[in-house]
Amino acid sequence: MTQRRLTEAEQEFSAKRSEVLSKVDAKYVASAPFVFADRITVTTALSRMELFKKVLDIPGAIIECGVYKGNSLMLYMHLSMILEPYAINRSIIGFDTFSGFTGIDAQHDPSDINTRMFADTDMSLIESMIEANNLVRPVNRIPRCELIKGDIVNTAPEFVKTRPDLVVAMLILDTDLYASTKVALETFLPYMPKGAVVVLDEVAYRNFPGETTALREVLNLNTIELKRLPFDSCTGYFHV
Ligand SMILES: C[S@@+](CC[C@H](N)C(=O)[O-])C[C@H]1O[C@@H](n2cnc3c(N)ncnc32)[C@H](O)[C@@H]1O
Repeated sequence: MTQRRLTEAEQEFSAKRSEVLSKVDAKYVASAPFVFADRITVTTALSRMELFKKVLDIPGAIIECGVYKGNSLMLYMHLSMILEPYAINRSIIGFDTFSGFTGIDAQHDPSDINTRMFADTDMSLIESMIEANNLVRPVNRIPRCELIKGDIVNTAPEFVKTRPDLVVAMLILDTDLYASTKVALETFLPYMPKGAVVVLDEVAYRNFPGETTALREVLNLNTIELKRLPFDSCTGYFHV
């Protein structure tokens, strides 16, 4: 969330939470994350869990385009470790610059965003937590989760050349932007078997129209059954 259009009540919530957070340390927060989570974070977690269940019986990778701090990506890793611990043909691959928005398109993306947004992340920190979880994961000699750094417009087409075994069970499009969404769809769709799931985090959403424009340019909307989760305000998905 870019936090560019918070209501007064949301700003008050944020201030109150900051006050509470100032009284505890990071270990306290990690041991009781829901005490401090906001509605959007919990909604996102719930929707990711629902979507994950839809690909439990489909082999292959879960690819997330747009990782930011890794909250959803690490949730997929946990779900995979809990629900399919021995699925050695499941990989969870996150693509991001890890330095914020890139490739903002003047025609298709909003004018009130900039390249500093989402720059407050730390790839090495996410990698350290992947390593920590690997310590307690069955068959941990086979990697489950990896990060690919750089502009998706370049990294996605390069990545598929290196993976002859690639099958994509779920493609999550969450860069919020036109160009990267379009390239991700063009690159990964040929690797998705029938029934695989494409998730769009900002579909039909006027504050980030680029994702929807990219979808319409790559696929005929009449040929896909686009769905939403009733409790999630702007996430959509369809089965290939
Ligand atoms: C909305 S955030 C992702 C949130 C994340 N999926 C989650 O659930 O916590 C959008 C991310 O997309 C990344 N991004 C935007 N354009 C990109 C591009 N062309 N290549 C790589 N990453 C990009 C940004 O760096 C940012 O971290």
